[in-house]
Amino acid sequence: MSDSPQLLTDPFLQLPTETGVRVVWFTEFVGSRHIVTYGENLNFTAVASTIKLSHTREDERSKVGKQTGEGEIYEKIAIRDIWRHEAEVTGLTPGKRVPYRVTSVREDGESASSDVFTLAASPPAGMPLKILLTSDHQLMPMTPANLQKVAETVQRVDAVFFVGDLVNVPDRASEWFDDNRGVAFFPCLQGRANGEITKNGIKTVYTGGQLIQHAPIFPALGNHEVMGRFSMLTELRSQFSNPFPLMVSEQIYDKNAQALNPNNDPEMRRTWLKNHSFNTDTYEEIFTLPSTSPGGERYYAITLGDVRLVVPFIACVWRIPTLGENAKGKYREREQDFDKPLEWGYGQHIFEPIKKGSTQYNWLEQELNSPEFKNAKYKIVMFHHPAHTLGENIVPAFTDPVQKIERNLDGKIESISYEYPKHEDYIIRDVLPLLESAGVQLVLFGHCHLWNRFVSDSGMHFLESSNVGNSYGAFIGEARRNNIPIAYQEEYVATGDPNGLEPVVPTIAPLIDENGHLLPYIASNDITVFSIFDTATGTISSYRFDTTKGGEVIKFDEFKLKESKI
Ligand SMILES: [Fe+2]
Repeated sequence: MSDSPQLLTDPFLQLPTETGVRVVWFTEFVGSRHIVTYGENLNFTAVASTIKLSHTREDERSKVGKQTGEGEIYEKIAIRDIWRHEAEVTGLTPGKRVPYRVTSVREDGESASSDVFTLAASPPAGMPLKILLTSDHQLMPMTPANLQKVAETVQRVDAVFFVGDLVNVPDRASEWFDDNRGVAFFPCLQGRANGEITKNGIKTVYTGGQLIQHAPIFPALGNHEVMGRFSMLTELRSQFSNPFPLMVSEQIYDKNAQALNPNNDPEMRRTWLKNHSFNTDTYEEIFTLPSTSPGGERYYAITLGDVRLVVPFIACVWRIPTLGENAKGKYREREQDFDKPLEWGYGQHIFEPIKKGSTQYNWLEQELNSPEFKNAKYKIVMFHHPAHTLGENIVPAFTDPVQKIERNLDGKIESISYEYPKHEDYIIRDVLPLLESAGVQLVLFGHCHLWNRFVSDSGMHFLESSNVGNSYGAFIGEARRNNIPIAYQEEYVATGDPNGLEPVVPTIAPLIDENGHLLPYIASNDITVFSIFDTATGTISSYRFDTTKGGEVIKFDEFKLKESKI
């Protein structure tokens, strides 16, 4: 403890109320006192409460400290001690921004303070806001450039709506805080990144943008916020890839309940099920979100100025689409696992049910009928899995996988496959009709790492602005999605939007392909894209920045939300 203490992150803002807001930051020491000082002369103080993150770990693949090659420091998986501090600042005047600073005092009395930033309570109705719409940062190479350009273009955003996939492996601490490639989550959104890009032989370092020190962030859960079955033995990436359907875990638990939990302790049951299925604990510990829904922080709604934002948890595990015998994939199990059901992947299973009649669906229906929603000028819904896109990950349909096991005459398993009936896509069949009838103006999603947008017949807009750090491609015309299963029963659509809408060509400056055609998308590993919602005008503007050329950011698309039915 002889070195002077340092904060692990700058502070960021969470959950503003009418007269207050929470300030959150992290340290690698438990400390003895953590405070926010705020007000014109920093003469008010709010004392933080502190928790230790329960699941944050590093392993041989972490890029942290001096570890650049595999296992140089962390030979195997290990807990990383990180403390989270949160102070609620109260007594604010709505619409008035005030300076603040955080200070953490270490056990030996030495302290560390942040720079001075600004905070505000929740903006009142009518106050114009500029909101960043983003997703899928995942420590991708262009993310720091993207957020630097956001900060340069908008100066100060009032909020960040983040449609999931914040990092890659959520229990790997360094992905949030200090990955040594300089592209971790908080540094990118706090202007402390150190992301080096080399294009055409020219090296440029981007810092990200100082955004969330001054603005609250509202995330949605993506598949990359979910950890699979818990272990302190296997490396983190394989745990991330190893979620197990909760329903199957419950069946196993029920069969073995007497041995596993002889006293029938409900907490023990809950923990066992979580450790043997999947969890979003690190995400839930890092963020403070509304927790009044039946799903707690996993799905929520909030009002911010004229905006009612509704955030369901619509995501499923990503599995490989290939059909070879070693694919623990979307469409099949590995041959070597046929007799080992505990090793099965169960296809692309959904984490939180959203189909009609589910608890989450009922909550969504109720939320869309609430006065807060009905009276809002802007009605926005965001969830991670796309409803309409040219991207890859919209196939297969968003529905429960239908397992088919074929056996030979001796009863030996010969194949295990999964089908996804397209007419039972829960987003298309159940969710979108609800949103349409409730007058939602904008549906945001991510997951495919490209920019494209669509409009329904009624004028409901769909935007995916996830070409932030990289792209996974657009599939239209001759370009076919990879590994579409052939000789399967259901329809798996290789090109275009499987759900039948035509992409909208950007209104201002679309990209043009080599044949002179205007492209209705951006899917690029050189050009990074961001979108800003301006509530003063009800318009969403999208900007692109070419990291191979530098120069100016180009506004390439703009559209206006239809008038709200209040
Ligand atoms: Fe995703």
